[in-house]
Amino acid sequence: MLGTTLQALGIADHASPPPRLEAVSQFSPVEVTVYSYECDAFGHLNQAAYLQVFERARWEILARGPGVDLFDRNQVWPAVRRVTVDYVLPAFPGDVLQVDAEVEKVGETSLEMRQRAVRVRDGKLLADLHIVFVTIGKDGKPKPLPAEVAGVFAPRQARPGELARHSVGDVVLAADVRGDGPALLLVHGFPVDHSLWAHQVATLKGWRRIAPDLRGCGASDAPADGYSMAAYADDLVRLLDRLQVGRAVVAGLSMGGYVAFELLRRYRERVAGLILVDTRAEADTADARRGREAMIEAARSGGASAVAERMLPRLLGRTTHRTQPPLVQQVREMIAHQRVPGIVGALGAMRDRPDSTPLLATIDVPTLVVVGEEDEVTPPALARAMTAAIPSAALTTIAAAGHFAPLEAPSAVSRVMAEFLEAVPKP
Ligand code: MLT
Repeated sequence: MLGTTLQALGIADHASPPPRLEAVSQFSPVEVTVYSYECDAFGHLNQAAYLQVFERARWEILARGPGVDLFDRNQVWPAVRRVTVDYVLPAFPGDVLQVDAEVEKVGETSLEMRQRAVRVRDGKLLADLHIVFVTIGKDGKPKPLPAEVAGVFAPRQARPGELARHSVGDVVLAADVRGDGPALLLVHGFPVDHSLWAHQVATLKGWRRIAPDLRGCGASDAPADGYSMAAYADDLVRLLDRLQVGRAVVAGLSMGGYVAFELLRRYRERVAGLILVDTRAEADTADARRGREAMIEAARSGGASAVAERMLPRLLGRTTHRTQPPLVQQVREMIAHQRVPGIVGALGAMRDRPDSTPLLATIDVPTLVVVGEEDEVTPPALARAMTAAIPSAALTTIAAAGHFAPLEAPSAVSRVMAEFLEAVPKP
């Protein structure tokens, strides 16, 4: 038991096979500006003009990577065989668009690619393109992709810790995905990102650890609207689909726990077990809703740093504030890096979330509840009541930790998670 636990913590892992490296897209997104000469008589970029903007972005991507002469020097030309543009919203002169490019398939003589244009100002998805190229030679006939070209477009393996980016509906989610084995989905809280789970992602070996940034957070897209617990849950299930994961044990911290409850409501068959960390089942009270409104105002007027200053005192336990100043600073910076649309969206989603207490008695998967003994946001008494209401849940209290226990007492939290995971029937 101890040996396996140590192995799960990555301490005695010499005999295990090398970890699988997840594939990530070859290309980083580029920004392109919309010029007035590209717009039509109505003053906006129409469907046809979008094709040119996407093409401009592809050339830019080539220029930054393998060079614009990639095809010339390999004596082939990428002829477009089919293209569809989902035109969602118009763009206007001066708009800056972030355009990404994700290769969906590399065939013997063809390439399939998806590109999305997102307006930088408000994170809105404007257009989505799907394009199929055939590589042709000088004689106009299809030619197998030369090795260099195939190599440029093939997805490459992520470096450890590098975030993969996956399109899931109207947003791209960034996710830290590591390891092999049954899936463990780690959903972070507010107002932070996947790095809340850094220690667990690094150490819970024997599991495929999937730690995404929810929409609006970290390196994921942050649209101006479209936030709700349902949207977060839908995004995560699409991400699991993209990663070809059927069922996963879901760990959710605080807001991540609210998302876990939503996953249970909407996709019960995908949840193989639950780890509820520093969270609550109740909906917001009227008072708490007023608090969300005040925080939305603070975010809009003072930005993410104002949110950090307001929230920090309660997010970390008193022991952490006293004994771990570098961690306090790290969390302050983590919050200050979040974007206002994502913060405002999450506050609205939490304010409007449903009461999950009726769900507790119906939970029929193994469940672990974890709470920091100094958690002031979702205190131990709430965790005890939640545990009692779930038919087969166990509670662990983490000493000298507050609301962000996985960061404040990383080894202790990873250890209890490893012990729980060891006993869970593998999804
Ligand atoms: C969180 O940590 O996710 C938030 O503090 C939860 C909340 O404000 O309800």
